[in-house]
Amino acid sequence: MKHFITGLELTKNEVRNIFDLIEDIKTNPILYSQSLKGKSIVTLYEKESLRTRLSFDIGINKLGGHAVYLDNQNGVIGKRESVKDFALNISTWADCIVARVNQNDTLVTLSEHSSVPVINSLCNLYHPCQALADFMTLKETFGRLDGLKLTYLGEGNNVSHSLMLLSAMFGVNFYAITPKNKEPNKTVFEKSKDLASKHNSSIQLSNDILDSKDSDVLYSDSWVSMGDNTTLEDAKTLYQSYQVNQKLVNFSKASAVLHCQPAHRGYEITSEVIDGNKSKVLQQAKNRLYAQNALLLKLIGKI
Ligand code: CP
Ligand code: NVA
Repeated sequence: MKHFITGLELTKNEVRNIFDLIEDIKTNPILYSQSLKGKSIVTLYEKESLRTRLSFDIGINKLGGHAVYLDNQNGVIGKRESVKDFALNISTWADCIVARVNQNDTLVTLSEHSSVPVINSLCNLYHPCQALADFMTLKETFGRLDGLKLTYLGEGNNVSHSLMLLSAMFGVNFYAITPKNKEPNKTVFEKSKDLASKHNSSIQLSNDILDSKDSDVLYSDSWVSMGDNTTLEDAKTLYQSYQVNQKLVNFSKASAVLHCQPAHRGYEITSEVIDGNKSKVLQQAKNRLYAQNALLLKLIGKI
C-alpha cells in the first residue's frame, strides 16, 4: 500500500506510468468506467475548494466508484475526535482517504493510522495532485519534460514545492523567483536539489525577475494562500514586480503560462495573459480529473 503525501512516495517510473495511464483514460474512457466499482473514497476538507472537490467527485464517478464528501461543517479534523481515530474509523469503511488539510502533520498522522491509502489534496507544504496535472499539461504542450525551463513567480508555497520536487525528478530546470524572505521552504529546496542531482535537473532560487528570461513556462499562483490573513492589497506592495503580465511573457519568451487557480486577475496575473493564447489554465484544471483518476487506479484500482 502506498500513500501520496509529498508525491515522492511514487518512483519516477511509477509517475511515468501514471502519465501513460492518463493518456489511456483520455483515449478509452469506457475501458475504465467500472475500474473503481465497489470502491468508496472519503474526501475530507479543512479548506475551501472548487477544482479539487469537483474533479475528485466527478472523476471517481467516471470510474464507477463512490465519493463521500466530508467538509469542515463536520468539525476540523482532530477536534471532535483525534486524527488517529478519524483514520482508524474511516479506513474500516472506505478504500481511500483524500484530504485537504491545514497542516501536513495531519496527513502524516492520518497515514500512520489508516489501513487504506491517504492522498494529499493540498496542505501547507505540498499540492502534489496539482503538480501531476501540471506536468501532464506540460507533456501535452511540449511533447517532453526533460530540459524545459519552468519559472515559478510569487510566494514560495505549497504549489511551488510540489512543482520543484517533480521538476527535480523529471529533468526540468526550475526557477522560483520570489521576493526576499518569501523563498520556498529550505528543507523542500534541499530535498529537491538532492533529487535534481540524480536526474540531470537544476533547481534555482532568485529574487530577480530578469532570471525569467528564456523560460519555456511561466507559472503563477495566488500571492496569498488559504489560511493566510494578509489582504491582497497588502500583498500587492510586496509582489507587484512578480506579476505575470504580457510584458513579462514577451521578455521571458515563454510559450506556456500556467496557474493552478483560483486566480486573482490584476494581481498575480493579468486578464490579458490568463485569457491569452499561451494560457494553459483550463487544460490544467481538466487534467486534475485525469491525473487523480490515474493516481486512484494506481493506488486502489485493479490494474
Ligand atoms: N487548484 C486547486 O486546487 O483549486 P481548488 O482550491 O479550487 O481546489
Ligand atoms: N497556494 C494556494 C493554492 C490554491 C490551490 C493555497 O494554498 O491557497
